[in-house]
Amino acid sequence: MKTIIEPFRIKSVEPIRMTTRAERERLLSEARYNLFKLHSDDVIIDLLTDSGTSAMSAAQWGAVMTGDESYAGAPSFYRFEAAVRDLVGFRHVIPTHQGRAAEHLLFTLIARPGDAIPSNTHFDTTRGNIEAAGAEAVDLPIPEGRKPAIEHPFKGNMDLAALEAFLADHGPRTPAVMMTVTNNAGGGQPVSLENIRGAAKIARAHGKPLFIDGCRFAENAWFIKLREAGQGGRAIPDIVRDMFALADGMTMSAKKDAFANIGGWLAVNDDALAEAARTRLIQTEGFPTYGGLAGRDLDAIAQGLKEIVDEDYLRYRVRTNAYVTERLDAMGVPVVKPAGGHAVFIDARAFLPHIPPLQYPGHALACALYEEAGIRGCEIGTVMFGRKPDGTEAPAAMDLVRLAMPRRVYTQSHADYIVEAFEELTARKDALRGLKIVKEPKMMRHFRAEFEKV
Ligand code: F0G
Repeated sequence: MKTIIEPFRIKSVEPIRMTTRAERERLLSEARYNLFKLHSDDVIIDLLTDSGTSAMSAAQWGAVMTGDESYAGAPSFYRFEAAVRDLVGFRHVIPTHQGRAAEHLLFTLIARPGDAIPSNTHFDTTRGNIEAAGAEAVDLPIPEGRKPAIEHPFKGNMDLAALEAFLADHGPRTPAVMMTVTNNAGGGQPVSLENIRGAAKIARAHGKPLFIDGCRFAENAWFIKLREAGQGGRAIPDIVRDMFALADGMTMSAKKDAFANIGGWLAVNDDALAEAARTRLIQTEGFPTYGGLAGRDLDAIAQGLKEIVDEDYLRYRVRTNAYVTERLDAMGVPVVKPAGGHAVFIDARAFLPHIPPLQYPGHALACALYEEAGIRGCEIGTVMFGRKPDGTEAPAAMDLVRLAMPRRVYTQSHADYIVEAFEELTARKDALRGLKIVKEPKMMRHFRAEFEKV
């Protein structure tokens, strides 16, 4: 059969509250044109994030009931640890309440003021935690990664020549190399095994550890299976094991590729680093066998990790985004190509060329999509990345809108509704206006900034 169906049946549903355009215009204006300030029951299709929004399976809800809430040594922890280790292999697995807590733990331990940490592209919380430690977060994607319309099978790859040159120049102030799989900020694009191997080799030659931000590791492994020479016949868990065997450790948000609503971990091989991390964990997150999570969350993650590497699921998952991307492309909406693993990315700078980057075309498009159809997406562009640590503002490399697909939540007709919203927007896009920021916090301004239409 050609049709790739949702490989699940729906056992439990949540109603969606429908709204009118007039209501949405009022709600967005009251929210100061910041989509993060909306109440989620005022959103019809919520594509703000794929993080923590997965539909858990019956088996996960069953596992929740077996959760053991003991402070120390709960069986839930050992089931979690075994499930994580089975896929990633690291010696020490340290639970955290979500991915950024793992990043905070890692960077407060390894980064010092004046240091620099290169990556294919840091996610915003990773960047925030590196900068909070006084260090610099440096992005070294391949050039294709910054050109939305160019097709490349592994657009998330790191520019290895740039990494080599960076370490030659800045080796003494570089405590580690990072690699984000898939490359979320760069469009949900995958990284090849060959590229991870290359980065690991360069890092090792300079005596630096390689850490993988593994949030969407299963989607990355699926793309490796589909696109990398010699990988087509291999099982997903084996590809996953190969990816992590090249690294010295990882940070993880279990809110993505573990189908959990909360959770994460830091995993490392280095005994001394693990010891320091566990000591810090007790101060900030909790005892090392729960790390800020309930035992039931640990069990949901353990079960989710078994389900996430299922090929029928991954085939459907990646197809959902490819379907919307292809439909938008066919109607002339500029999209990041090929489709990423967890989201559809629209090139708002190309879609709305009359709005200059410092009037935030990505944000303008995200606001218009909400007003038009009640769909909530997220700007990944100059609002998110334009304010530099020295206080100056400059256009980001790209102005994208991300429509992130929650896992196992929406169906084909929701996808068609999204496409129809773009038909409507395309017809009146020249009338869309940019925005200006009237209030912003010091860091990660996109979450809480307030805007006015210009
Ligand atoms: N790294 C990447 C690549 C991410 O996408 C995220 C979160 C994190 C780290 C932090 O994990 O949320 O559990 O603390 N991304 C979400 C998103 C928020 O919408 O892309 P967290």
